[in-house]
Formats: sequence, structure tokens, C-alpha cells
Amino acid sequence: MAVTNPPSLPAHPDPRLDAILAGDLPHELAHAFGGPFHLLLPERFDANVAAFRTALDEAGVDGHVYYAKKANKAAAWIERCAVNGTGVDVASLGELREALGHGVRGENLVVTGPAKSDDLLRIAVLQGCLIAVDALDELDRIVALTTVTRPARLLLRRLPPAQPHSRFGLDDAELATALQRCADAVGSVRMEGFSFHLSGYATQPRADLAGELVELCLKARAMGLPADRISIGGGFAVDYAAAGDWERFLAEQGPGDYHAGKTFTPADFYPYHSPVAGADALRAILAARPSGGGAPLADRLREAGVTLLMEPGRALLDRAGCTVFRVQGVKERSGYAILTADGTSLSLSEQWFNSEYLPDPVLLTTGERREGAPGLPNPGERPDTAPVRACVGGATCLESDMLTWRKVAFPVRPRPGDLLVYPNTAGYQMDSNESPFHDLSLPPKVVLDEADGRVRWRLDRRPPS
Ligand SMILES: Cc1ncc(COP(=O)(O)O)c(C=O)c1O
Repeated sequence: MAVTNPPSLPAHPDPRLDAILAGDLPHELAHAFGGPFHLLLPERFDANVAAFRTALDEAGVDGHVYYAKKANKAAAWIERCAVNGTGVDVASLGELREALGHGVRGENLVVTGPAKSDDLLRIAVLQGCLIAVDALDELDRIVALTTVTRPARLLLRRLPPAQPHSRFGLDDAELATALQRCADAVGSVRMEGFSFHLSGYATQPRADLAGELVELCLKARAMGLPADRISIGGGFAVDYAAAGDWERFLAEQGPGDYHAGKTFTPADFYPYHSPVAGADALRAILAARPSGGGAPLADRLREAGVTLLMEPGRALLDRAGCTVFRVQGVKERSGYAILTADGTSLSLSEQWFNSEYLPDPVLLTTGERREGAPGLPNPGERPDTAPVRACVGGATCLESDMLTWRKVAFPVRPRPGDLLVYPNTAGYQMDSNESPFHDLSLPPKVVLDEADGRVRWRLDRRPPS
């Protein structure tokens, strides 16, 4: 079928990574692992953290960045946090152990999540972590546990008034009770402030609620509590694609563009273009006037002597990784091809949320430079160099295991042995849902270290001995 301008969504160009992908490395790694793998770029993570810190410095605001570990399980990021003094947001005992085990100090950890287990709370208190209290019974368990530990450092998590159906946080009445309980237990708990996490990516609602939390800190201080910090959680958008491409994509895509006539609700797509993203979103929050008037948030924080904490996950992983699959098979359907990749959509989590990971996968062809790779048809000349549309399925028995339902336009017909690179997957895509389904092994994570003009690779974790 002729490819007549089908909807496409190219990720922002990444010349540095493209240069690496254009070499032999991805093909060598695909050969070595015999399955899909993830590439990680820790320098990008460092740069993203640095950008958040710069935004705080520019606004003259005292603050700390905590990497939300749930966004990616790799060790590489927390190793960087340990070295750079970046905080980590953990939400389970496993995440806490991982962070401590890679050298992050307890005092640089914030523990979030609902109804935390007693084991998690005990170790968090012993290690001097900051605990975001989600409920009154959790506060009571913490107070009880401090009879055998040191005092606990706490934030009280606010139920966002603008998102009243959220299952997280304390409402007005619960907050008042919690404050009184903290005041009564002053030798056992150190109430350091308040926190929230909002769904969505808008900046003004974050500034509004942060402004409210600054006022709450002043009230708490009047009760004798330290209350000198607030956490605004995560939700700093990532900008995956150019505005024009995203608008065109949304306007043009329809059921005919997806395998099996699959339909998606565009509102369920992640906003793949965001005019204000990452550290710029923090800038916007700091510059915004809470509740539309008065001084900007940055001024209010400074005047009140309140430190700003934040827990970005996705935004710290922007452009810090990609995922590489090998094409294992190509079959025809009416007007398009079905590629089968050598892994599963469990390595692309968006596919499991009634949505689709939309940035275009990029084809790295094998034939032109690899003479007769073992086990593959002799590449020779590509007989069919015309563009072709193809969706991408996983190597499983599940109809719904589609890495890409969309019939993506590829510049040439993909062939077995070619590679498909899914761009910018480090934030939530790689491993949130991965499982060794069908006894397929989990894709290894390969860290690309750049030093002295050289790129070297290593495994994120050494294989068990
Ligand atoms: C409490 C909390 N903090 C931080 C985050 C990280 O959010 P994001 O990765 O969108 O920045 C989340 C995500 O669910 C969260 O629940």
C-alpha cells in the first residue's frame, strides 16, 4: 500500500544518541543479548537534575530535588543520586532498600505512598527519612513505633481540594486532627511540613496548592511545630515531540490508522507535546501567583522561610534512555504489515493503560552493512525499498500484546534482524510492567557511559554469579 502521509509523531531529534545508534553498538548488543534491551544515559539524568537546581537558584528559592524512583527500576539513576546528593522518593520497602543499598543517605529520602507497611515505616524512621503521612491511622502507627526508635521526621500529605476524589492525603478535618496529634507527640515526631501530589501536568494548580501549604506551615508553627518545608510532588511534564507534529497527529489520526480498527480516546494519550516541561515547569510554578493574586510563589516561600521539595520522576528521565527490539518476523495484511518484535509490550507500559506509546519507533536496518549475519537471511540488496506501514506485535500468544497498534510509516520494508528503537522510554515505559511472561527473559539494561570523548557500555546490574 502506498504510504500517503499517514499520521506520524517523530520524537524530538537527538543527534548525540542518533550518532551512537548509527554505529555497530545496537546490533552488537542485540546479537549479544538475543532479545530486546534498554539503553540508559546517566549523563542526561544528571543534566536534568542540574536543570531543576538551576531553576531553584535563579528564583533564589531553597529547595531539594527527590527523584521519584517508581519511574524506572535501574540502579544507574540512584547511583547518580547518591553521588550528587540528590534525594530519592521511595514508596515501598524494596525501593527504600535499593536506595540505601546504592548509597543514598536516609536523610535524603522521602517516603511516599499510602498506608505504608510497619517494616517500611520502622526502617524509614531509623534511617532519618522524611515520611509523607497519608492517613491518621498511619500517623498513629508512626507515633507508636517511635517509642522504640528515634523521633520520626514527617510531612502531612494534603488531599488536593481541586481533586477531592483522590484516594491520597488528608482532608481539612483530618489535617487539623493530625496537626494536634503531632503537637501532642512533639518529642516523638518532628512535623517538618506538608506535601501533595497532583494528577495532570498543569503548573498553576501546583502553585495554588503550594501557596496554601505555605500558609499551613505558618499555622503549624503557631502550634510550636517546625513546619519549614513543603513538597509539591511530581508531575513535571516531558516534551516528547514538536508542537506542530503533535497537533497534526491528533487532527489526522483515526481508527483506520491502527491495526484491527483499534480506537483510542485522544484525551487518554499522554500529552506528548508540552510547551512548558521539566525544569521550565518548575520555573513556571515558582513564578505563578498562588490563587491568581499577590506575590509569586518564589517570594512567598522566601518570605516564609519555607524550603521547596519536589519529586519529579518522568522529567528527570527525559531523553535518558530508549528501548531496542529486534524484528523477528514480518507478515502481510491487507494494506500493511505486522512486525513481530523479539520482546513484549510489557516493556512499553503505556500500552497497558488503554493508550498507546506514540513517539515513532525508528528502524535501524541491518542488511546494508551486515554481510550474512549468522542465522539471518543473506541481506544483500533490499528488494523492496518503498515505504511501508506496519504495526508491531510482541512475541507472545496474546492478541492484545501490541507494542504499537498504529500502522507506522517506515521508510523501507522492515526485515527480520532489523532493529526498532523506541525513543525516550526511560520515564515509566521500560519496566513498570515487565514480567518474564512466556519465560522470556527481562530485557537487560545497558548503561552508556561517556567519558574522554568515548562511549562505553556496561550492564546496569552485574549478572548474578
Ligand atoms: C507522591 C508522588 N510523587 C512523585 C511522583 C512522580 O510523578 P512524575 O513521574 O509524574 O513526576 C508520583 C507519581 O505517581 C507520586 O505519586
